[in-house]
Amino acid sequence: LSIVLCAHGEDDFQWTQTDRGSFYYGTFPPTFMWGVGSSAYQTEGAWDSDGKGKSIWDVFTHKKGKVYMNQTADSSCDGYYKVKDDLALLKELNVSHYRLSISWPRIIPTGVRAEHVNEKGIQYYNDLIDTLLENKIIPMITLYHWDLPQNLQEKSNGWQNISIVTYFNDYANLCFERFGDRVKHWITFNNPWSVAVEGFETGEHAPGFKLSGTGAYKATHNMIKAHARVWHTYSKNWRSKQKGMVGISLTTEWGEPVDLSSQKDIEAAERFVQFHFGWFANPLYNGDYPQIMKEYIGQKSAQQGLGISRLPTFTSQEKSYIKGACDFLGVGHFTTRYITNRNFPSTQGPNYFTDRDLRELVDPKWPEPESKWVYSVPWGFRRLLNFVKTQYGNPLVFVTENGLSEKMHCAQLCDEWRIQYLKGYINEVLKAMKDGVNIQGYTAWSLMDKFEWDEGFSERFGLYYVEFRNKNKPRYPKASVQFYKKVIGASGFPN
Ligand code: NOJ
Repeated sequence: LSIVLCAHGEDDFQWTQTDRGSFYYGTFPPTFMWGVGSSAYQTEGAWDSDGKGKSIWDVFTHKKGKVYMNQTADSSCDGYYKVKDDLALLKELNVSHYRLSISWPRIIPTGVRAEHVNEKGIQYYNDLIDTLLENKIIPMITLYHWDLPQNLQEKSNGWQNISIVTYFNDYANLCFERFGDRVKHWITFNNPWSVAVEGFETGEHAPGFKLSGTGAYKATHNMIKAHARVWHTYSKNWRSKQKGMVGISLTTEWGEPVDLSSQKDIEAAERFVQFHFGWFANPLYNGDYPQIMKEYIGQKSAQQGLGISRLPTFTSQEKSYIKGACDFLGVGHFTTRYITNRNFPSTQGPNYFTDRDLRELVDPKWPEPESKWVYSVPWGFRRLLNFVKTQYGNPLVFVTENGLSEKMHCAQLCDEWRIQYLKGYINEVLKAMKDGVNIQGYTAWSLMDKFEWDEGFSERFGLYYVEFRNKNKPRYPKASVQFYKKVIGASGFPN
């Protein structure tokens, strides 16, 4: 079918009807893990309580004009004070795991372990972990969900400086030391693509820099090295005693070629995924950045009269150090985009987006989402999961984030669209498992409404509604709670 894209207005596009699949009845294996997720800065609040240091997000949100309505997560859901209440929500859902993150500056206020460890912060996470385990809920813990200690940003330029690898490793080591007897599922980074691109290219996220065409690549280089260092530390010092796993969580959209008969569109879609997911996964599983990134950024850099590519390189020693340094791949996924080729002129300065030479579109046939940007396109998820299987040697996968938001309505508890979304996406996970993708668990994003970064509280991803204006921050179940609970109880969709 051919459609005129009014929103973009320039061309006619040939949309390719591919197999959208139909509903597949069946259940997941008994060992499959079902969970929900959240993160420290988005939910904890208590931003300066009990000796916590400031994070780059505390500082960023306190500047004017960075976040929707200048909102901050100073108190957010007050999760720090509501461990027992939130446990009840988790129990209601009957999840087998809860994905959360540790706030680095809550346990190491300056970010430098040798300077000071905040025992009150340690105590908070110890209590939380114990509470979960007493209730048979497995904690899946992310070390870095974006809240870098501000001191490290000021002192050494955070992720732009290789020194961060040692600070991060010391922090991870502390976590293994203090929590690793009970925590067996560790995620080093959550969605490092956002850290790199939104933190250092667009500046929409903390620390808010616009280091066009260089900063994101450098930050990624250091994050990959930091991840690998932590994996090796775990393997050397802790693995035999603690018997856990260390992985990474990468969040990406799926990119589908607009026209499957156009080689250019197919290649553009390939670039879309490689510049996003492959940028991190390829070094960890195949030992280097995707070939297509090296070629493209190299070419662009040359056209811009630069002697060397803006993409940093790994030495052969580094390549063997990072290759295989991952026990599982966390896959976060929300939506899909159609991709078409577009050659940006080389006169356009260095820029992560123009380096990719493509354009992202949505199919005007897709229903307008309740969410700002999450169109419900379930079939894209199966494709992404199959891509992961073929590109990285069928690694162990956990779905670490999947869900959708709604715009800031009045209390909208009848989230029928979320139910349809979850049903469709979870069903595609089941199909992917049938395709042979090695998936061990699924994590719905997120447990409750919370601070959505530069969107503030204007976007709600929760299964539970949070009334932020009420100082007690009450939580109310949306209809999707009962739906997800049912899926968990039946472990899928029995016929
Ligand atoms: C991915 C991020 O990891 C998470 O913090 C955020 O809430 C979701 N995307 C939704 O935007």
